[in-house]
Amino acid sequence: MQTVAKTSEIPNFGKKVVSVSGREILLINIKGTFFAVENECPHQGSPMGAALVKDGYIACPRHGYRFTLADGKCAEHPEFVLTTFPVRLNGEEILVELA
Ligand code: FES
Repeated sequence: MQTVAKTSEIPNFGKKVVSVSGREILLINIKGTFFAVENECPHQGSPMGAALVKDGYIACPRHGYRFTLADGKCAEHPEFVLTTFPVRLNGEEILVELA
């Protein structure tokens, strides 16, 4: 796992894009629970930074496909799965495991 940001950099219900080993990762804070997903929609590659996050889902800003934050699955279009990464907190540090 590697440190990618500090918790104080991402407000509640906020997002932040970080670049890690050449990949863009989108970090999301939901009431102190942090998620990390690929900053690229598996449908047609839209960046996810402007995505709407609600009720455990992240909705792509381009066509609105909704992916579950926990595992990246899309109920409406199961052939598309958003890549998610395990996250761990170490004090203020957000650590992400890249596949
Ligand atoms: S590019 Fe994300 S839903 Fe189409």
